[in-house]
Amino acid sequence: MKILVVGGAGYIGSHMAKMLSKSGHHVVTLDNLSTGYRDAVKYGEFVEGDIADSSILDQVFSSTRFDGVMHFASYIEVGESVIDPGKYFRNNFSNTLNLLDAMVRHDVKNFIFSSTAAIFGEPDYVPIDEKHPKKPINPYGKSKLMVEQALEDYEKAHGLQSVCLRYFNAAGADPDGELGERHNPETHLVPLILQAASGRRDAISIFGRDYSTADGSCVRDYIHIVDLCSAHLIALTKLVKGSGSKRYNLGNGNGFSVIEVIEVVKKVTSRSFNVIEAERRPGDPATLVADSTLARSELNWVPEYDDLSVITQHAWEWEMSHFNH
Ligand code: UFG
Repeated sequence: MKILVVGGAGYIGSHMAKMLSKSGHHVVTLDNLSTGYRDAVKYGEFVEGDIADSSILDQVFSSTRFDGVMHFASYIEVGESVIDPGKYFRNNFSNTLNLLDAMVRHDVKNFIFSSTAAIFGEPDYVPIDEKHPKKPINPYGKSKLMVEQALEDYEKAHGLQSVCLRYFNAAGADPDGELGERHNPETHLVPLILQAASGRRDAISIFGRDYSTADGSCVRDYIHIVDLCSAHLIALTKLVKGSGSKRYNLGNGNGFSVIEVIEVVKKVTSRSFNVIEAERRPGDPATLVADSTLARSELNWVPEYDDLSVITQHAWEWEMSHFNH
């Protein structure tokens, strides 16, 4: 297949481009490098450009007859989305419509969308399945849900087929050590703990010890980046063969508290570091765990790296090699 990976210079997109390429597919990455890295594009062709720019999109779609588009280019910080909602609605929603309109103009019918557990908001129940009510509590989650809703209408109007994959907590790194997670600023738990372990950071803060969980810290479902990517590849292959539009929640179905993640990292790295108990971070639900039964049964998707020690080990190898400690 010929696949356009939008946002392929970022964390998830760069791992996806590698997997597609290694599986024999032709990959073109389109990325504006606002948060991605040129040196993360190691597989396929690269075009620097923004999805807000219709002329770039027309050039890209005219130069290659794509079988499908995977869209990873979005802003991802929940806290920032509350302070600057326009940034999130403009890029994550409005610019995505621009991309979809270009697909319609060039008759490209298959779209894989990076969605998020944030579309569900404060959960009514866990684990969260696809039927769970969608009540996002921040502009980030709303911007992603709005794309999911728009996709239903693009399908009716234009026959554009889509799979929306709602990630829980993506973590880990390429097992070959070629690619990993690099956000600036970093806000995610696993890389922040690893930075504390490597000495790049003085301490790790636990945001809240008074949640209604077993140890009082928040519980999340960490899924290896390679397993996320394998779900995308299976979903795309089925979509191109005519499976029709689908929505899946992607996680391992195992919840780990912040304190448990810190303990796992201590074991994996054999390092000790300072741990601080801090205030709650606004907007954090106590527990987010996925029910991925549908993805497992319909996609025959089986996560390969569902052990948090392995997830954090791969991320640690990246931290050690890339940041040279
Ligand atoms: N946390 C800490 N200390 C830190 C950083 C995070 O205790 O220094 C806690 C958070 O409060 C949260 C947990 O660790 O309870 C995980 O936080 P992350 O920021 O790593 O991940 P989130 O669960 O907040 O966010 C992830 C994705 C978002 C997505 C969201 C969906 O990164 O893009 O899941 O709920 F929106």
